[in-house]
Amino acid sequence: MPEHTKVMGKEWADARRQASIDQLRTTVAPLLAGQATFTFELGCGHGHWLAAYAAKHPEEFCLGIDLITLRVEKSLRKQSLGNIANIAFLKAEATEFLEALPAGCTLGKIFILYPDPWPKKKHHKHRFISPENLGLLARHALPGTRLHFRTDHADYHAWTLEYLAVAPHWKIIAEAIWPFEQMTFFEERTKLKRDIIAVRVG
Ligand SMILES: C[S@@+](CC[C@H](N)C(=O)[O-])C[C@H]1O[C@@H](n2cnc3c(N)ncnc32)[C@H](O)[C@@H]1O
Repeated sequence: MPEHTKVMGKEWADARRQASIDQLRTTVAPLLAGQATFTFELGCGHGHWLAAYAAKHPEEFCLGIDLITLRVEKSLRKQSLGNIANIAFLKAEATEFLEALPAGCTLGKIFILYPDPWPKKKHHKHRFISPENLGLLARHALPGTRLHFRTDHADYHAWTLEYLAVAPHWKIIAEAIWPFEQMTFFEERTKLKRDIIAVRVG
């Protein structure tokens, strides 16, 4: 591909991303109005886990996001069927959502359950866990915020342990206990759990 076409492609992608962040800002601010902190599920899928968690933790405001419209619609149906007041679901890409978070609103707890493992080596770059994204999560968390990561995929588990071990703002707490169990859509299929809990430090 000619160099100028690559440059135009990148400019177009950057402009599109910025437009998406600007649009999200207008949606996210009213959703989180009055919340200094919230429990965040990244890639909530069909919303099984967060809907159950929010119902059991009425003192926490919970927000789940996912890229796929149909999954967010299914999540929203669980919210309205269960009449759960302390929860919201939003269709959003995670890094764009984090960039769009209002100032003064921080991640109280973070859950990433069965993220896409991108098993082929050439696709590893698409895995959500990366130094940049751990930094972005840390930027929106407070000291003491816990990051809960669960996968069935041995290699993604090892990958996440490795990145967390060298991440400047996260410390793995090996002895931490998984705080809440509810089968997710993907857990139902695999039944395998490999957990990591880390805490925001510094
Ligand atoms: C394997 S599914 C797991 C869904 C759910 N957590 C479960 O356990 O059933 C991963 C989910 O993450 C979502 N996802 C992947 N990358 C994302 C991103 N960058 N931002 C938001 N959602 C994302 C996908 O759309 C998908 O629904």
